[in-house]
Amino acid sequence: LAAEIDNETSPEKLLAPVLSAFWDEEKSWTLETYRRHEGYEGLRKALAMAPDDLIAYVKDAGLRGRGGAGFPTGMKWQFIPQGDGKPHYLVVNADESEPGTCKDIPLLFANPHSLIEGIVIACYAIRSSHAFIYLRGEVVPVLRRLHEAVREAYAAGYLGKNVLGSGLDLELTVHAGAGAYICGEETALLDSLEGRRGQPRLRPPFPAVAGLYACPTVVNNVESIASVPAILNRGKDWFKSMGSEKSPGFTLYSLSGHVTSPGQYEAPLGITLRQLLDMSGGMRAGHRLKFWTPGGSSTPMFTDEHLDVPLDYEGVGAAGSMLGTKALQCFDETTCVVRAVTRWTEFYAHESCGKCTPCREGTYWLVQLLRDIEAGKGVMADLDKLNDIADNINGKSFCALGDGAASPIFSSLKYFREEYEQHITGGGCPFDPAKSTLWS
Ligand code: NAI
Ligand code: SF4
Repeated sequence: LAAEIDNETSPEKLLAPVLSAFWDEEKSWTLETYRRHEGYEGLRKALAMAPDDLIAYVKDAGLRGRGGAGFPTGMKWQFIPQGDGKPHYLVVNADESEPGTCKDIPLLFANPHSLIEGIVIACYAIRSSHAFIYLRGEVVPVLRRLHEAVREAYAAGYLGKNVLGSGLDLELTVHAGAGAYICGEETALLDSLEGRRGQPRLRPPFPAVAGLYACPTVVNNVESIASVPAILNRGKDWFKSMGSEKSPGFTLYSLSGHVTSPGQYEAPLGITLRQLLDMSGGMRAGHRLKFWTPGGSSTPMFTDEHLDVPLDYEGVGAAGSMLGTKALQCFDETTCVVRAVTRWTEFYAHESCGKCTPCREGTYWLVQLLRDIEAGKGVMADLDKLNDIADNINGKSFCALGDGAASPIFSSLKYFREEYEQHITGGGCPFDPAKSTLWS
């Protein structure tokens, strides 16, 4: 069957977008539209395979988690112990909140069935009979559309008892969170789903060993799971023919900021920001790129020197940052970097869950220092203090939120220390907020 799948590759299929292929069609979110675009064909192929072969197939395809960390999806599925007598769960992390990240929510809004099909395939592979989607609660229209898609899938026999005659029984629960960034951290998400206050748990044990209700649980991002049906339908060789050897496939980039056409762009991993800007109309007219984030504000910022860095896990890593959520926030020369970093740091301080001291106290101190510098009340020693506080948060906090908060401090001081100094020597911000559309 694997060989049969791989033979289906054609040049047209290779170049066409997958996840976003029909977002602009009328009623793109319905089962009827999805079926017109190969919908649930991947599931049929998956159900013809043995679950372990299916896991091996996804692992061979090289799909890496699209939530930010890039952990191999098939390997995560393989971690689930079999024959342990415990229930297994799949939890889809749809709590997308990383600043600048806007791909899972549009995907769910326009094409929810790709996620549902991927969920059924994943549950068959890991032998799970109950899956959950944890959606951020603020996006009520998406929640409604998701509920409707789940109802359609039950009615069509893709969910419920004996899915397509395969013997798989599968329940799918959609849960709306209450809007906390920390609930996107996988263990805080599980606590929240269990009805507790969302705060990270100690890892290990990882969710694969003790997750939801202390049972083996796969936590995957929306885009990761939604990418699985096409891999089954078109074959792993098709998928691997895109991207790079270690980061194969296509993905969704969120382009935002001072660009002509912000939005979601589906492209192979390894594309560069220069290419994406060329394709999408570039920076706003008359302005040039000053700094940008490759994967949201938690990833070290880049400058215009990094326009040709391949946007895959290895390329971005080698250039000193992380691919993260592929949220490309682009800022032009009208933007004050201190103001931007202050705004991000205020976000981290607000969203810090308070469980550990370095993050809870450190993010608060960072905000005070940054506000002083931006207001012209800073002194030169504050720059070393900023660096020192960030250093005491980074790697010393309980979860990745702390590291994310430290990251813009380090990278902005690395590339724009002079601009911080200018604020101090010049008695305040040298930028005119009216000229930057982001702050007006
Ligand atoms: P991580 O690297 O610690 O873990 C990644 C995944 O692999 C997790 O599911 C974890 O359970 C699993 N894993 C790792 N080692 C394992 C082992 N030995 N055994 C079993 N499973 C294992 O990354 P983490 O802390 O889960 O996520 C950090 C990333 O999240 C950041 O890179 C950031 O880009 C991203 N992020 C995304 C946001 C969004 O809105 N999508 C928001 C904030 C951060
Ligand atoms: Fe909470 Fe921040 Fe500590 Fe994470 S790093 S556990 S968000 S206080």
